[in-house]
Amino acid sequence: MTHNELVIKNYNKWIDKNSGINIMGYGSELSQDIRFRTLFKVGDMTEKTILDVGCGRGDFAVKLARHGIKYRNYLGTDIVPEMIEIAKRENTSKNIEFKVLDILNCKEKLSFDYVIMCGPLNLKTPHTEETAKKLIRRAYEIAKIGVAFNMTSTLGDEDKKTEHTHYFDPFDTLRYCATMTRNLKFDHTYLPHDFTVFMYKRGEYEPHQ
Ligand SMILES: C[S@@+](CC[C@H](N)C(=O)[O-])C[C@H]1O[C@@H](n2cnc3c(N)ncnc32)[C@H](O)[C@@H]1O
Repeated sequence: MTHNELVIKNYNKWIDKNSGINIMGYGSELSQDIRFRTLFKVGDMTEKTILDVGCGRGDFAVKLARHGIKYRNYLGTDIVPEMIEIAKRENTSKNIEFKVLDILNCKEKLSFDYVIMCGPLNLKTPHTEETAKKLIRRAYEIAKIGVAFNMTSTLGDEDKKTEHTHYFDPFDTLRYCATMTRNLKFDHTYLPHDFTVFMYKRGEYEPHQ
């Protein structure tokens, strides 16, 4: 089975049981919220275009609206059609769109100010590492300003680790991101088992054109 087929099979299994927050695989709504608030630090999203890769139920879009962030438009993508169905049901604003789309295999030209990825890389399959690298590279190509993504960390407590989760080495991940840009920020402060990387196209120290 391919990585995508395994992801689809897994999430469908959880969706069958319920369609609440638990299908995201987070421990609680609070831990999702903490991740979202960390991702907000990518920059000022007012009047900006946002691509949310692996949007799930579209909860990030809901949270942006709740925080009064007036983005220009938002596209949420996911490879699990049932997730997109739920997201469409839950979010009906006019500048929000949801699509079943794999950004690694699509012909559409994608270009957004910010690309956000909250948790699409965490499910363990034999291909998670290689898929994560491809997704990070593709997200960086698509972004005009920056990318923010989070991952579950190898530095988390051993006794809290689960079988189905893939844990990433934060230092290897940063080293990989540095092959694309040195304009990087890193945050491993908000949860013990999770980290966020921010990648930018232009550093503050470089003169604005
Ligand atoms: C942990 S859930 C997080 C959902 C949402 N971002 C959130 O934080 O509430 C991960 C989501 O990523 C999606 N996903 C996994 N691999 C993906 C890929 N390669 N491309 C797009 N979405 C993917 C899954 O279907 C699932 O909806």
